[in-house]
Amino acid sequence: MCGIMGYIGTRPAKQIIYSGLKQQEYRGYDSAGIALLDQSLSINKTKGDTASLNLQKLSDEATMGIGHTRWATHGEPSAANAHPHHFGDIVLVHNGIIENFEDLKAEIDTTKLKSQTDSEVLAALINLYFHSTKDLLQATQQALSRAKGTFGIITMSPKEPGALIAARRGSPVIIGVDDEQYYIASDPTALIDHTDRVVYLEDNQVAKLSKAGLEVYDLKMQVQSIAVEELEETERASKLEGFESYLEKEIYEQPTALTNTMRGRVSEDGSIVLGGPNLALEEMQAIKHILIIGCGTAYYAGFYAKYRLEEMLGIPVSVEHGSEFRYRYGAYDPEHTLAIFMSQSGETADTLASLHEAKRRRIMTMGIVNAVGSSLARDVDHGGIYLHVGVETSVASTKAFTAMVVALLMFGGFMANKLGQNQVLMRNLARELAMLPSEITSALELHKQIKKLAEELYDRHDWFFLGRGELYPVALEGALKLSEVAYAHAQAFPAGEMKHGPISLIDAKHVSVLLLPEDELLYEKGLSALQEIKARGGTVLTVSTRPKPSQSDYHVEVAHTGPHTDGLVMNACLQLLALEIAAKNKRNIDKPRNLAKSVTVE
Ligand code: M6R
Repeated sequence: MCGIMGYIGTRPAKQIIYSGLKQQEYRGYDSAGIALLDQSLSINKTKGDTASLNLQKLSDEATMGIGHTRWATHGEPSAANAHPHHFGDIVLVHNGIIENFEDLKAEIDTTKLKSQTDSEVLAALINLYFHSTKDLLQATQQALSRAKGTFGIITMSPKEPGALIAARRGSPVIIGVDDEQYYIASDPTALIDHTDRVVYLEDNQVAKLSKAGLEVYDLKMQVQSIAVEELEETERASKLEGFESYLEKEIYEQPTALTNTMRGRVSEDGSIVLGGPNLALEEMQAIKHILIIGCGTAYYAGFYAKYRLEEMLGIPVSVEHGSEFRYRYGAYDPEHTLAIFMSQSGETADTLASLHEAKRRRIMTMGIVNAVGSSLARDVDHGGIYLHVGVETSVASTKAFTAMVVALLMFGGFMANKLGQNQVLMRNLARELAMLPSEITSALELHKQIKKLAEELYDRHDWFFLGRGELYPVALEGALKLSEVAYAHAQAFPAGEMKHGPISLIDAKHVSVLLLPEDELLYEKGLSALQEIKARGGTVLTVSTRPKPSQSDYHVEVAHTGPHTDGLVMNACLQLLALEIAAKNKRNIDKPRNLAKSVTVE
């Protein structure tokens, strides 16, 4: 995780770096720092987010510098562990993890280390090589050749003013190019105010930026060609516009966001047109298995869609965590498997590593991504679907979840259309999708009722979320949201699994959120779970398309549209529940403790 920002040019660097860091704060916000270089070096570092920086301590004139916003991996969040790290003649910011930093310590003077970070060890190693090479580019390149792990770094040195060195392996580094000015960032959003001409560094490339221009090398110092690209349409950070938190705003944006996701893609006659997936008919016909890979909420979106896609396409759909697939054998037949990678940010390290592993195994790969031009969107072989839901700022993902499910359903419909499958089912899907934005609007009208529920239940610490079929992934997502933003202990189970163990936890303080579907058989089964919990003194909150069951303590009723989308409407209610319980507990709603929006380390 972490965001890095650098600038070298003709204008004062302080504000450019500061606002670049602010744009990237979603990547980590437990500590921050800026170092500027002119006649001398000025550094300010702080625990907390960028708002805690003391900008007065930084030069107003310096026209070059680097900055960092951190999500701690090695060493607690503190000013000492914050970047930039200044060791000897080297100043460095780093995003990623140097896995062999303990081994590398053998080569440096560890008594001079001021932090507990792997990054400072890297700075010390570069310093060591700087003393022998007297050249910042070579020193950085030599140290990085020794480093194992991932990095997106920028280095500078008071002994070699006028140059910034940037390098990447596994963590994005984008260089913005303008007349006599260069910007370096982890994320293009930090560049859009300055330039639309960018260079995406590839893994194991090192760039030198100076008055002489931009030079790019590999780690063996071989000159690399430079491709200056036009920055793809990148969304600007959004404003709160009267909402109290981005979480609330983004929950409320869902009807519009989904309309944008489906615009020009879904027609009421059941036809679904997608321009992004780049699969020939023969390739589609060869697909006998779909594999969906993502992390956290993105994984749950894939899990939800699995239930519907199997029915639509009549082929098995598996869902794997990014952090698992990359390290496991996985007996997938590359000729007949399509792997779909799901990610809001397109930068999640585990998802990206799984993508690269799938490509290595020659599996067909496609992406479902929100961030335009992100690493995932650029690295898939067969295109994909952009969500078009706008920037998601809150760490807790909401509108991206709903849109990811919709995108997968659209893809299922698109593939089924092409393969000439069940037209009635397709028409029902299109009808349900068309109604979804207004059904979510209706669910949001229950906000007051859900707020009241939260006022009664906000101090309960133990929660179960229970559902069957695609309501099980909704339960998983509901539990994740509540634990993530309200810090309540929430777990999800398939409703039928309760009696195989978890039911032993039920007591008078325990709340179970039970999702009850329209389907008669599963509804009845759900009622049995309700009875079993009540028989043990637990509290039950039911969420259903049907009226309140007599034994339930609290109830939220939503409209019934159909099997593809009912779960998404219930999910909107669970999002509001998490929001209101977090608000009542006075949590930092948009930036929950210990988290970051984009998880770019393993
Ligand atoms: O950017 P991604 O969709 O790849 O992120 C994946 C997860 O890190 C993310 O969904 C995470 O679980 C959210 N904080 C959940 O709200």
